[in-house]
Amino acid sequence: LLEEIIQEAELKAWSLYVVGGIVRDLFLLKKNQKILIQDIDLVVDSNTSPSNIGAGIELAQTLKKRYPEVLLTVYHDFKTASLSWNKDKKYGSVQIDITTSRTETYLYPSANPKIQIAPIEQDLFRRDFTINALAVKLTSPAQGKLLDLFMGLSDLRKAQIKVLHPNSFLEDPIRIYRAVKFAIRLDFDIEAQTIQYIYNATKNQTYDHLKLEVNIIPSLTIRLKNELRSILQSNSWRKSLELLSCFGALYYLYPGLILNCEILRQMRYVSRLMKYSDPHHKTIKWLLLLEILLSSIPLKERKIIAINLQLPSESIKRLSEIQNINKEINQGLRKYSKISDKVNLLNKFYWIDLILVAAQSKKEIRYFIWRYFTKLSKISSPLNGSDLKNIGYLPGPRYKEALTILLDKTLDGEIKTKQEAKIMVQT
Ligand code: CTP
Repeated sequence: LLEEIIQEAELKAWSLYVVGGIVRDLFLLKKNQKILIQDIDLVVDSNTSPSNIGAGIELAQTLKKRYPEVLLTVYHDFKTASLSWNKDKKYGSVQIDITTSRTETYLYPSANPKIQIAPIEQDLFRRDFTINALAVKLTSPAQGKLLDLFMGLSDLRKAQIKVLHPNSFLEDPIRIYRAVKFAIRLDFDIEAQTIQYIYNATKNQTYDHLKLEVNIIPSLTIRLKNELRSILQSNSWRKSLELLSCFGALYYLYPGLILNCEILRQMRYVSRLMKYSDPHHKTIKWLLLLEILLSSIPLKERKIIAINLQLPSESIKRLSEIQNINKEINQGLRKYSKISDKVNLLNKFYWIDLILVAAQSKKEIRYFIWRYFTKLSKISSPLNGSDLKNIGYLPGPRYKEALTILLDKTLDGEIKTKQEAKIMVQT
């Protein structure tokens, strides 16, 4: 498919470049190391004057005609298109984003940028870091030529994250999250001057969405969510959050949000407990970590932030209701003395709620929920339906009742073996 895109661009006498993350990652590859490519960013420079603003979309549409199985999404406002398809079961889906080379002007800090078509050199200058501003030409002539206008390769060798201009973080504060993400992921340093620019931006705090009205600048908050997801999905989420907090960048999530020892403890707990509770924990771990982080924000604002971040509806609901659920579980677990009563109480709740409640509760409650996940919820009745039938029970509502009683008595330690269970049922 990529070869056909190149041929198509050459036919039209357009220059096609591969840019951004994939170029950076390919240069970082060690000998014999493999890379799983899932996102490919292409930029088309139509070399005409005035430039063909829709060149990227046109290219993608031509390919879609030839490969109907490929999914085409066109973003007319941004003049970009995206082709995606399932490569195979093992490697999952691949996405190719095609844009026409452009400049972006910010009318005021952190506004949505105004887009104007421009040559590739200017397109590279609008990017976040030198290591992300590398491009390789895919079309002839000069096929395979590397465009490294800002010493990106040298910064890759120096293992440093460096911005292209002083206003980078003012124009787009989400780049602070990206700087931290790359620094931790690649084990790079953030260059000293770049750190200064980060502090300049966080000191100015000119981020308008913080008026806390719903959906002020949706694209910004969604990008913020995407970067947060990427950070919280990684095993090094804690280091990244600490660095963001140190830069004062949690402000962009909510002014006054602080990462204290208690929140960190709760997040670590959630991260550990998730390993025991659900095989698919990886897909939502980031969301629960974020919910813990947001739970220190006053209820009304917390909800607005969750809506602005476009979190899933169940997550928004949890953020609003978790305090009540917490109270109900804490009171119940304290009130009941029998293990079976406590387990039956917890059985009524969704496992995600239990994880959040455990994280936010005192040691004794936390310990009980931990036991519930790791042991108690896995205990089953010592006899099953056919055992009851063999003993002489007639199938009917009493089956369920008997099994429930047997399970409760097992949980409470009154029955330890199958034999004891049979005797109890018979008597
Ligand atoms: N980019 C940017 N400023 C941003 C986001 C992205 O300049 N706030 C540019 C960078 O050149 C980046 C490219 O767009 O390399 C693609 O963005 P994205 O796919 O989000 O990032 P990757 O660099 O590919 O990072 P990742 O490996 O996390 O996907």
